[in-house]
Amino acid sequence: MINENKKVAIVTGATRGIGYAITQRFLAAGISVAVCGRNQELLDKFDHPQVLAVNVDVSESEGVDNLTKQVLGRWGRIDIVVNNAGITRDSLLMRMSNEDWDRVLEVNLSGAFYLCRSVIRPMMKQKSGRIVNISSVIGVMGNAGQINYAASKAGLIGLTKSLAKEVASRGILVNAVAPGYIDTDMTQELDEKQRELITRHIPLGKTGSVDDVAETVYFLVSDANQYITGQTIHVDGGLVI
Ligand SMILES: NC(=O)c1ccc[n+]([C@@H]2O[C@H](COP(=O)([O-])OP(=O)(O)OC[C@H]3O[C@@H](n4cnc5c(N)ncnc54)[C@H](OP(=O)(O)O)[C@@H]3O)[C@@H](O)[C@H]2O)c1
Repeated sequence: MINENKKVAIVTGATRGIGYAITQRFLAAGISVAVCGRNQELLDKFDHPQVLAVNVDVSESEGVDNLTKQVLGRWGRIDIVVNNAGITRDSLLMRMSNEDWDRVLEVNLSGAFYLCRSVIRPMMKQKSGRIVNISSVIGVMGNAGQINYAASKAGLIGLTKSLAKEVASRGILVNAVAPGYIDTDMTQELDEKQRELITRHIPLGKTGSVDDVAETVYFLVSDANQYITGQTIHVDGGLVI
C-alpha cells in the first residue's frame, strides 16, 4: 500500500463533466493524474504540477498504448484507471446507422478494453491497482432510443466482472459505477418537461451532481476499499431499486 499522495491515476474523458470532477477529487487527495480528452483547448487549461494532459481518442488503441507509455515515463507507475470517456448517438433501432452503432461501442466499450489491456501488465507487476469503469443505469435498465449506448454500458459491466476475476489474485480491484441522471453537458439536451418526468421516477427526487459520482469513484480507488471488486455501484438517487 502506498501513500495517497504518491499514487498515479489515468482518467479518460477528463476535460468536462464527471471526468473533470473525478480529476479534481483525486488532485485534492494528492493523487497525480493523467487526464485525457480530445479537446486541446480544454486540455491546455489544466495548469497543475501533478497533471499530465494528453490528447488521445480512446477508440484508437495505439494512442491509448502511447498514453500508458507517457504516464510510465513521467511517474514510473500506474495505480488507478478510470474509464470515463463516453458518448451518445441516440436514435431508434430502425433508424440507427452502422456508424452510430460502431462509434458508441468503439468509444464507450473498446476504449475501456484498450486502456485496461494497456495498463494491466504494469499493475500486475506492482501487485496492486484499481480500475473503475463508468457504466450507466441505462446499461442496467435499457432505454428506448439508446440501444448502442445501453449495449456499451452493459458490456462494461460484463468486462468489469470478468476482469475482476482475472486479476484479483494480483491485488487488482475492478469495479463499475453506474450513474443515474447527473447534471452535465450530456444531459443538458433534456428540456424542463423531460427533466420533471425523470425526477418523478427518482426516489430521492432530484438529479445527481458530478461530485456525487466523483466521491464514489474516489472511495472505490482509495485505501478505504480493500474488499469490493467486480461490483457495479449505483449512484442514481434510487432510480434502480
Ligand atoms: N451525465 C450523466 O447523466 C451520465 C449518466 C450515466 C453515465 N454517464 C457516463 O459518465 C461518463 C461521463 O459523462 P459526462 O456526462 O461527464 O459526459 P460529457 O460531459 O459529455 O463528457 C464526456 C467526456 O468524454 C470525453 N470524450 C468523448 N469522446 C472521447 C474519446 N473518443 N476519447 C477521449 N475522450 C473522449 C470528452 O472530452 P473531449 O470532448 O475533449 O473529447 C469529455 O471529457 C460517460 O461515460 C457517460 O456515459 C453519464
